[in-house]
Amino acid sequence: MNQTASQQGSSLQQSRPAGAQADFLAPVFAQYPLEVAAAEGVWLTSATGRRVLDLYGGHAVAALGYGHRGWTQALTEQARTCQFQTNAVAMQVRARAAARLVRFAGLGLSTVFLVSSGAEANENALKLAFRASGRSHVAALEWSFHGRTAAAGAVTWGAAQKWYGFPRAPFDVSFMPRGELAAIAEHITERTAAVIVEPVQGLGGAFPLGAAYLEALRRRCDATGALLIFDEVQCGVGRTGYPFAANMYGVTPDMITTAKALGNGFPCAALLMSARVAATLKLDLLGTTYGGGPLACAAILAVIDAIESEELLARVRRVSAYLCERCIVGPITAHQGAGLLLGLRTTRPAKQIQAELLARGILTGTSSDPHVVRILAPYILEEQHVDLLREALAALPA
Ligand SMILES: Cc1ncc(COP(=O)(O)O)c(C=O)c1O
Repeated sequence: MNQTASQQGSSLQQSRPAGAQADFLAPVFAQYPLEVAAAEGVWLTSATGRRVLDLYGGHAVAALGYGHRGWTQALTEQARTCQFQTNAVAMQVRARAAARLVRFAGLGLSTVFLVSSGAEANENALKLAFRASGRSHVAALEWSFHGRTAAAGAVTWGAAQKWYGFPRAPFDVSFMPRGELAAIAEHITERTAAVIVEPVQGLGGAFPLGAAYLEALRRRCDATGALLIFDEVQCGVGRTGYPFAANMYGVTPDMITTAKALGNGFPCAALLMSARVAATLKLDLLGTTYGGGPLACAAILAVIDAIESEELLARVRRVSAYLCERCIVGPITAHQGAGLLLGLRTTRPAKQIQAELLARGILTGTSSDPHVVRILAPYILEEQHVDLLREALAALPA
């Protein structure tokens, strides 16, 4: 039986979950009541011409804000010069991006595997840990998020109950209560290949694990031969006001995975590894089509250039301190996190506060903690923008 296009459209719309957008995109994302048409600096312009202050940066991606001149020029020039070649062909821009990232991190993790997403970086990190150790167990943390693929999803807390979908996890996983020193020895043993941890948990509510806990993980990994993986997909590349949270806490893992801010919106990710891990590599062990593509590498170089030349690490630390001092007001009772990965603890459900802030022209995020509003602002945020947040919060019912 023939249907008209509008009949087809309406039957499709009827099958969509509440809150999903009514179009031909997979209905898997709940969407904010905001359609973005353009953006500049820290400001979004909606399709109806409304200006919205973006304190969420597209889930921590838009680190340099929007329309950054150096980043835009770097991508435009690279697109003109040569937009793509595989890793089977040498390119200087790729070699420069890897060297720059290693120097920026300054942690002695001097081999880089470039990939395209955070989950892909974690998938590869776990695979290397299994090979290097010959073991099959991973210890992860409660409240963690590491991605949607088979291995990354397996080490994500609560995924099995909510959305995992694969018939079984590909290896043994145990979840440790976050920050609990007493639980470490029971979970990390001689059969553990890797411990994977976000030093500052993102989706878990901008929750900082702290130096003492991360040092204890490092010591236990050394004692048992497990590899320590820092998932800095969200908290890395300047987000905490340091190159990586590893620098902030003074704890060096065996591998760091990172993405999001790394490309400022051009999809790219990286796995940085120690000499011990790199020694297990051989030809054809890992692979990727888009990882390390020239546009991604130009984006990485432009992001690190901007962070260094515009002194954005110092700015992130300064504006973060200002925000923490000024924004305990209205329904906000406390703050947690680091740099511009901040959790504001709320008296009422965070989703309510988020909606009320958006109605006042400020975009923020929530987290899996129902009482935390999450801030993931661009690093170019200024004190005057924080004042707007304070004003809006102060006007909300406590
Ligand atoms: C800490 C962390 N790890 C991994 C991922 C997965 O990254 P991607 O969505 O690029 O696969 C995310 C995404 O939000 C993340 O926050």
